[in-house]
Amino acid sequence: MARKSSGKKITALTAYDAPFARLVDHAGIDIVLVGDTVGVVVQGGDSTLPVTMAQMGYHTQIVARAVRRALVVGDMPFLSYQVSVAEAVRNAGRLLQAGAAAVKLEGGVRMVDRIEALVQADIPVMAHIGLTPQSIHRMGGYRVQGRDAPDALLADAARVAAAGAFCIVLEGIPMDQAARITASVPIPTIGIGAGPHCDGQVLVLHDLLGLSTRRPRFARPYANFSGLASEAFAHFKRDVESGRFPSEDESYR
Ligand code: KIV
Repeated sequence: MARKSSGKKITALTAYDAPFARLVDHAGIDIVLVGDTVGVVVQGGDSTLPVTMAQMGYHTQIVARAVRRALVVGDMPFLSYQVSVAEAVRNAGRLLQAGAAAVKLEGGVRMVDRIEALVQADIPVMAHIGLTPQSIHRMGGYRVQGRDAPDALLADAARVAAAGAFCIVLEGIPMDQAARITASVPIPTIGIGAGPHCDGQVLVLHDLLGLSTRRPRFARPYANFSGLASEAFAHFKRDVESGRFPSEDESYR
C-alpha cells in the first residue's frame, strides 16, 4: 500500500527454479511469483489446469531457497482452493511451509470467503481478476475480459480488497478499465496485459527471455534466449565433431 501511494511502480516476474529465481532476485525485482504457468512454459502443456499442489510445492521450495530479498508468492493451482474454504487454507499453508511468504489465487467476488479465511489464518493473499486462466472453459478461451460488463470487474476488485488481499493481479483487461480499477482500490494493482496505468507489472519469465513458443501481444521479449541457446548447442556439436572440444586444458592429467 505504501508503494501505491509513493507512485513507484512494482515489478514482478515469475520463476520456477533456483537459478532464474536467484537472477530475478539479484536484479532487484520486487516480487517472484511461482506461477502455475509452470504447466505451460516449463511442462509444455496447453493450459495451467493439470498443475498439481505437489508440483507447486516443489517449485515454490526450490525458488524460495534461492531468493534472499524479493517477496516469494506461491500460486494456488486449480482445485487446490475451489472445493472448500478448509482445503484452501490447508493448501495455502502448504505453500507457506514450502517457503512462500504469500499465495495467489484466481477469482473475484466468488473467492471472497477464501480470501477472508486465508487472511484470518495469517496467510497474505494476492488476488487475480480479469482473464483468469484456470477459468479458460468458462471464458471460452484466453480472451480479454471486462469489455461487456466493466462494472463486474470493479466490483471484483473492491470485494477482494475489502476481503483483505494485499494486491491484485489484473490480467487481460482493457487499459482504461485497469486504470479505473487502479484508481478505485486502496491496494496496488499489478498488470499483465492490462496496460500502463497499473501500480506495477508482472511478466512470465520465459516470455520476457524469448524462451516461450507463445507470443501474447503484451509480452515484450527483452532477450532472445532461444537464439542464444540454439547457437550454443550448435557450437558444442561442431566442436565435439571436429575434435575442438574438449581441449587439453579442459581435461585431467
Ligand atoms: O501463473 C502465472 O504465471 C500468473 C501470471 C501470469 C500472473 O498467474
